Amino acid sequence: MSKKFKYPRESQVTMTELVLPNDTNTLNNLMGGRLMHWMDIVSAIAAQKHSNRTVVTASVDNVSFSHSIQLGNVVSLTATVTRVFNSSMEVFIEVWSEDILTGTKIMSNTAFFTFVAVDQSGQPIEVTKLEPETTDEQELFDGALRRRQLRLVLAKRMDPQEATELKSLFKL
Ligand SMILES: CC(C)(COP(=O)(O)OP(=O)(O)OC[C@H]1O[C@@H](n2cnc3c(N)ncnc32)[C@H](O)[C@@H]1OP(=O)(O)O)[C@@H](O)C(=O)NCCC(=O)NCCS
Repeated sequence: MSKKFKYPRESQVTMTELVLPNDTNTLNNLMGGRLMHWMDIVSAIAAQKHSNRTVVTASVDNVSFSHSIQLGNVVSLTATVTRVFNSSMEVFIEVWSEDILTGTKIMSNTAFFTFVAVDQSGQPIEVTKLEPETTDEQELFDGALRRRQLRLVLAKRMDPQEATELKSLFKL
């Protein structure tokens, strides 16, 4: 690791896609799986830029689709690393959908993906820490520990007794 820490802006990535016929379902709306593929790519790039390592997707938090995205819309996905633990990084993704003809832009959805940096033999390896700069980044950073504990408990990788941030939720 060359640097002691990096800022979120140093690895933030925006990806823009045009919804083409091959991306849609029979209602001419973007397929959820295609959107998740784009979300995985943009967030993996952010995690790789932050860590300067190869990363693997460890988990995807709940993704819900509240607005359909139509054929011909332009989709912008922004991925920001919110916090680094040891080898793992949480990445926040915001998805915007724009109808170019009307100029209407809506926030389609958001999600948190977790990536793990690995060495050449696929073993997890420690990553440079992240230092939040803005108030929004600090809020995401602070909430990341709670979200990490929740996803690790749900994945049966953490004993609920050790989930210090979730005591009230699990009534421990
Ligand atoms: C993710 C993976 C590298 C974890 O490896 P592991 O040997 O179990 O490693 P560890 O238990 O030491 O955990 C390493 C890190 O992964 C994190 N992790 C493991 N499972 C996780 C999960 N389900 N959700 C979030 N983070 C997880 C741990 O919290 C730990 O983070 P930390 O180092 O920041 O504390 C491994 O399970 C793997 O390679 N999975 C397949 C990844 C993949 O192929 N993704 C694409 C799917 S098609």
